[in-house]
Amino acid sequence: MARYLLAIDQGTTSTRAMVFDHEGRVMALAQQEHRQIYPQPGWVEHDPLEIWERTQAVVRQAVARAGVVPADIAAIGVTNQRETTIVWDRRTGRPYYNAIVWQDTRTAAICDQLARDGGPDRFRDRTGLPLATYFSGPKLKWILDQVPGVREAAERGDALFGTVDTWLIWWLTGGPDGGVHVTDVTNASRTLLMDLRRLDWDDEILRLLGIPRRMLPAIHPSVAPAAYGATRPDGPVGAAVPVCADLGDQQAALVGQTCFEPGEAKNTYGTGCFLLLNTGATPVFSRSGLITTVAYKMGDQPAVYALEGSIAVAGALVQWLRDNLGLIARSADVEALAGSVEDNGGVYFVPAFSGLFAPHWDGSARGLIIGLTRFANRGHLARAALEATAFQTREVVDAMYRDSGLRLTALRVDGGMVVNELLMQFQADILGVPVVRPAVTETTALGAAYAAGLAAGVWEEPARLRQYWQEARRWTPRLALNSS
Ligand code: G3P
Repeated sequence: MARYLLAIDQGTTSTRAMVFDHEGRVMALAQQEHRQIYPQPGWVEHDPLEIWERTQAVVRQAVARAGVVPADIAAIGVTNQRETTIVWDRRTGRPYYNAIVWQDTRTAAICDQLARDGGPDRFRDRTGLPLATYFSGPKLKWILDQVPGVREAAERGDALFGTVDTWLIWWLTGGPDGGVHVTDVTNASRTLLMDLRRLDWDDEILRLLGIPRRMLPAIHPSVAPAAYGATRPDGPVGAAVPVCADLGDQQAALVGQTCFEPGEAKNTYGTGCFLLLNTGATPVFSRSGLITTVAYKMGDQPAVYALEGSIAVAGALVQWLRDNLGLIARSADVEALAGSVEDNGGVYFVPAFSGLFAPHWDGSARGLIIGLTRFANRGHLARAALEATAFQTREVVDAMYRDSGLRLTALRVDGGMVVNELLMQFQADILGVPVVRPAVTETTALGAAYAAGLAAGVWEEPARLRQYWQEARRWTPRLALNSS
């Protein structure tokens, strides 16, 4: 019986494909980066066809490296950078415009205009989200309004909208030749267009934004054996394998960390930083600047919701130190540079490159470096950059405490930055709770594989997966800092 699982993790800076066995062990990984396109200050785009090419390449490489026969892959799970918006021609597969990335702030005026009637929270009770440039709906409206011919094509039924999951699944299942046009509840919950309780597109919001419903994908549970079609045998997988799961990447990481109980939380330190707290079957609406999102929906089971603290810039700040300031040659060098000084020397970073997300939701905010004196050096800048991630996390944890009344006993962490000992220790210090890292840190891809495996019957129920979660490292708050 087919027992392997393929996870496709399409992220902000790179695409990975990973093959897992039926005990959640990594058999192979392939990864490729794609271009970041910055046409103007505040604009961030990706080339959707480049993303599809990279996806095909890494899938081929991972399957070859794992040494498995494609027909032995039981199921595929897709997980993706969320909110990033693509519109393409269903007849050709050609995008009408580049993908507008979640970090892009070009829709500030659209959001302000919509907020004039009812304020920035006018859709919050239905969608769980404030009106902000982060989400897909305003990006889709921008494409419909600004790119010639798209609105007419959408009304004719030729233009399709999708987040990156939808784009990739459409291509994997045939593209112009019968591709399936679908998304899942977690991705749809990031558009500002879905009713969080009914799990369907909200007709009134669609009308207000001028979005034709027929261009939107069908919304399915995140774990759904038959909803997402099967790959084309002549495609990169090399066999007809069912796509059984689709989840936004931060929700996939929550599943990969096996946070299946209300009160369990994880924080993923990637390009941005995203803290999700499982709140169970009822959506909890934030009064403290967090957002409410779908955590996952497994088949016919009720949806599970999460409170999320979204931080736009975390690892991206380290990349900025590397690429824009030339302060370090490689991202990994930031730790040694930050460790070359005793403390931050009074220097603080506010990395508001895309405005500020949770808990402020201020699209007009811009970055700051403050506290500079003649004493400050490169080390202090590096240290302040790392500390900015930990301080932002503290801010969203405080908001989460206020909203939920819960207190963390430990914070489960994952993502590229968790190899940074200095950052993780500082995080534990300023949170005052232990920070714990699992043995498998590729939790996003792992979560997509778990979801696919649950759909395909490799595992019967989520609780089974807990046995695979193993603590690999723990940072305990240092008393001196904790009590201050
Ligand atoms: O909401 C944006 C988030 O999904 C991006 O995650 O890991 O691709 O930076 P990542």
